[in-house]
Amino acid sequence: MDILQDEKQIDEQRQGEVYPESKTSSVGRKLFLESYGCQMNFSDSEIVASILKADGFVTTNNLDEADVVLVNTCAIRDNAEQRVRNRLTEFNRIKRNNPNAIIGVLGCMAERLKSKLLEEEQLVDIVVGPDAYRDLPNLLKTAEEGQRAINVLLSKEETYADISPVRLGGNGISAWISITRGCDNMCSFCVVPFTRGRERSRDPETIVEEAKGLWENGYREITLLGQNVDSYLWSGGGLKKEIYSQEELDKAVNFAQLLEKVALAVPQMRIRFSTSHPKDMTDQVLEVMARYENICKYIHLPVQSGNSRVLELMNRQYTREWYFERIAAIRRIIPNCGISTDIISGFCTETEEEHADTLSLMEKVQYDFAYMFRYSERPKTLAERKYKDDIPEETKLRRLNEIIQLQNRLSLESNQRDVGKIFTVLVEGPSKRSPEYLAGRNSQNKVIVFPKEHHLAGTHVDVLVESCTAATLLGTAVTQTK
Ligand code: SAH
Ligand code: SF4
Ligand code: F3S
Repeated sequence: MDILQDEKQIDEQRQGEVYPESKTSSVGRKLFLESYGCQMNFSDSEIVASILKADGFVTTNNLDEADVVLVNTCAIRDNAEQRVRNRLTEFNRIKRNNPNAIIGVLGCMAERLKSKLLEEEQLVDIVVGPDAYRDLPNLLKTAEEGQRAINVLLSKEETYADISPVRLGGNGISAWISITRGCDNMCSFCVVPFTRGRERSRDPETIVEEAKGLWENGYREITLLGQNVDSYLWSGGGLKKEIYSQEELDKAVNFAQLLEKVALAVPQMRIRFSTSHPKDMTDQVLEVMARYENICKYIHLPVQSGNSRVLELMNRQYTREWYFERIAAIRRIIPNCGISTDIISGFCTETEEEHADTLSLMEKVQYDFAYMFRYSERPKTLAERKYKDDIPEETKLRRLNEIIQLQNRLSLESNQRDVGKIFTVLVEGPSKRSPEYLAGRNSQNKVIVFPKEHHLAGTHVDVLVESCTAATLLGTAVTQTK
């Protein structure tokens, strides 16, 4: 049983990244902003940076010189929260040199624990939930005056549509655009509906404008983000349920239509999106993907379990058969599509046979990549209230390891099938291992590494794949296409 395997997987979802030094100015109060969790959280941190930049802050990556330390947190699994608690203790050391420094918790853990965070953690001065970031300057002011401050109100409208995120953390080539916030699904294991509130979609015009702006600023890839992008529906604002008439529905913009609008507005930009939900992913979306060259041929389609009884307990609202049918639709409409997934081992009452169904589903789908987790019970969720977390930790871990072992083989086989093929790579920058090599991704989201020669970040290069590991394709540039 290898607990590190679990950690390694979790680390692949980005953890604890800090924004670099502002290049623009050295005057102003200094903000140290660290982020955990999913892409949506990282995208939110860019909104936070934008709001605080307008309030006179500059970012720093040096904790010791920070006036304000903010940590944008994740609550999805217990170990994600433990990591943040450890960090808060470390952050507190800055108060020794700078007693006026302010430490704040943002994001999903702030929303889940609310004022408990102020009570339990003597280390925290402000607590701000995901829909309250516009209030940050006020909350910081209150804290500067010596009082603790909290705003964890969730909103039915907030999409931060008018805020232009500060793109400090990325490579200058790929950027995120949030298209929905919140989630209405209530999967029984999941804390997100409680930490992020009701689902709401963002005005498509503001999405298109943001995409165009990114292109003009040199970005070459965007990822449209939402907990369930397929349920995107814009009808002039507010919650989806507020659409009543057929006439309004006819005027509404769905995800397939949004995707097409964006593809047409920035025809040279690579477009990705995440996350798709098997119950909502339509053929219309797949057809739009097939039609536009600039929409990447890659779908992240979390399955969670390969067994229909477990899926029902999880309240995922699809069966094993339905999932296979969606995979068949992807293969039919987009034959060269990369497919990845999320899997949870050891959900309440899962039997060995049901776990074996997850393994057989993986084998049948032949995923290119997967994020794999063992079940972690979360307070307030449907599962916590209704079911017993009855699978022993060691069984969860053993099953998780079987899932990871299988996926390692499937990833290797998937990569081996690509040896000998030529892919267009959008170059992101030097490879992690050597500055003599560049790394980028193909349309299917696989990382490809190749000798640098004269090639540049931000360009498209055709690369012949010559060898591979389970994680990476290695090759040589054959031509520079653009
Ligand atoms: N909105 C996305 C997923 C968001 S959370 C979707 O619907 O697929 C990312 C992943 O974390 C989930 O897909 C799930 O695999 C995992 N996850 C969520 N809650 C979990 C829990 N309580 N224990 C273990 N893994 C969990
Ligand atoms: Fe959580 Fe389910 Fe919503 Fe995904 S779709 S965020 S797993 S409730
Ligand atoms: Fe974590 Fe919140 Fe994202 S709980 S996974 S940061 S939506």
